[in-house]
Amino acid sequence: PTILVLASGSGTNLQALIDASRQRDFPGEIIAVGCNKPGAFALERAAQANIKTFVVNHKNFGSREEFDGALMAEILRLNPDLIVLAGFMRILTGDFVRAFRGRMLNIHPSLLPAYTGLNTHQRVLDAGDTTHGVSIHFVTEELDGGPVIAQAEVAVTKDDTAEALAGRVQQLEHLLYPIVVRWFCEGRIQLAADGVLFDGEAL
Ligand code: GRF
Repeated sequence: PTILVLASGSGTNLQALIDASRQRDFPGEIIAVGCNKPGAFALERAAQANIKTFVVNHKNFGSREEFDGALMAEILRLNPDLIVLAGFMRILTGDFVRAFRGRMLNIHPSLLPAYTGLNTHQRVLDAGDTTHGVSIHFVTEELDGGPVIAQAEVAVTKDDTAEALAGRVQQLEHLLYPIVVRWFCEGRIQLAADGVLFDGEAL
């Protein structure tokens, strides 16, 4: 199966996926990396790995719909089996999300449904939570709200900082995303009408 990764920033999750896809038994191929920011380091990571890149700069469009339309055109041209949002910092319109329902994944640095949105690590610390983590989910119309496929947890220590916590969560991200992408490429994960099926069983 072919994979298209969308990123906006440093692309450390992209790098983890690139590294995993180099393993001979990895069932998917990353065919392109798209960014909404021209200078995203994720583009450099893709170029280093000889992966095609494209930029759809959201600053060039007057509306969210026009940006999404341009991005969709690029994606339809490449026709990937799976779209992976990896640090992609755009809110996608319902039409876009529906077009790729069941074949678009996102990674979010919290134990969903808790802490959707931004600045999750600081919010966890402010709340005094003792656990935190990462969630990988199918993308649906609800922001950071799609059916969760997998989560991984870290313990929060009392003198933790947002930076330290983010570092530990990112390490988990880099472990978990390649596993979940592998499962999707092996046909083990599906988005059914009312949730995720893993090997045909409801999660
Ligand atoms: C990561 O923390 C990820 O959870 C969030 O964006 C951040 C940056 O990811 N979605 P990356 O280093 O650009 O992959």
